[in-house]
Amino acid sequence: MVMEMEEGVKDNSAVSTPKSRHTNQSRSLLPIRLLQILLLLLVLTLGISVVGIHMIKFLKFQHLDPVAPTTLISMYDHGTVALDSFIRPPLNVWHTMNDSELLWRASMVPRRNGYPFKRVPKLAFMFLTKGSLPFAPLWEMFFKGNEGLYSIYVHSLPNYKSSFSKSSVFYRRYIPSQAVAWGEMSMAEAERRLLANALLDISNEWFVLVSESCVPLRGFGFIYNYISGSRYSFMGCADEEGRDGRGRYNIEMEPEITLSQWRKGSQWFEINRKLALEIVQDTTYYPKFKEFCKQPCYNDEHYFPTMLAVKHRILLANRTLTWTDWSRGGAHPATFGKADVTETFLKKLPGAKSCLYNDQQSQVCYLFARKFSPSALEPLLKLAPKILGF
Ligand SMILES: *[C@@H]1O[C@H](CO)[C@@H](O)[C@H](O)[C@H]1NC(C)=O
Ligand SMILES: *[C@@H]1O[C@H](CO)[C@@H](O)[C@H](O)[C@H]1NC(C)=O
Repeated sequence: MVMEMEEGVKDNSAVSTPKSRHTNQSRSLLPIRLLQILLLLLVLTLGISVVGIHMIKFLKFQHLDPVAPTTLISMYDHGTVALDSFIRPPLNVWHTMNDSELLWRASMVPRRNGYPFKRVPKLAFMFLTKGSLPFAPLWEMFFKGNEGLYSIYVHSLPNYKSSFSKSSVFYRRYIPSQAVAWGEMSMAEAERRLLANALLDISNEWFVLVSESCVPLRGFGFIYNYISGSRYSFMGCADEEGRDGRGRYNIEMEPEITLSQWRKGSQWFEINRKLALEIVQDTTYYPKFKEFCKQPCYNDEHYFPTMLAVKHRILLANRTLTWTDWSRGGAHPATFGKADVTETFLKKLPGAKSCLYNDQQSQVCYLFARKFSPSALEPLLKLAPKILGF
């Protein structure tokens, strides 16, 4: 290219030298010839540049230099891959995944032991509600000062709009939900949806299911230590005779589930991450319960206890942490209001029954209690510092 240019310059100077002083005709022809040469040079220059650029591109693709960022990466526009984006909990619990996508995503497990970052195990509180949380002020007191040790997830009616302010622990903690019918599979599905959402935060290690009418019976620190220090997960898991136990079993569930594997437990559980994963990944027992456990079979009392007991019964404490009063009989437990909530009443609840904790006799068996009506909030707030220790 450079050579051509130099020649062009030479030609140019040759044409314009005083030596070329000829006839009038040749003089008038000179500028045209000059133009022709210039044009030719221009075309040549352009041609060479175009070929050159293409050659460079071609060579780049052949080499795909690993040091410099390649065109292939920028094509996907993912940015840099960093661990941070994987281990940080999502800022917003809202997402656009449907249940199949969510369960698939939530079932992913690291296979390598240990964590290459500082992981503080958290307690995930999963609220199964219609929408409103009448005991929110009590829970706010309970969680205060324990940031980083818990996460909250709320399942509500799908169209419920919560109105918690930015300063509330419940602000933006409502997950994408679906309608729940009492005693139907949709109940177990809602619980599984809560577990799946909570599993997306890799720091959540223990998962507690509570309802809008549940209240804590002890301070956060006590509950955190009790659950994190337990060798077992708190899932009720009884082989019960009679109509409300083995009587709810359906022989059609064989061979996946046999009568001797059939278990019953309270709906209100606390399980660790390993068992939570077991639930979201289950595709064996779920179809059996969906098809063959219908009223008067209540799948929320049988599905998780039975499926977990088949493979992991040595991990279960076979009791629940949530006190409920069934003494009146019937399908629904007793509800307690303003007049019932006294100092004596609250004091006796944690030890209302004797139990084992890590295979030792324990005074404290219940950490939560239900059912309470909204009118109980006022006496609970008053008694909380003294009785509940928060
Ligand atoms: C979720 O969405 C995927 C992709 O559109 C679809 O194949 C799947 O059936 C959906 N699952 C549910 C439970 O709606
Ligand atoms: C719970 O019950 C199972 C039998 O279903 C038993 O194997 C397990 O040891 C029990 N767990 C505890 C903590 O007692």
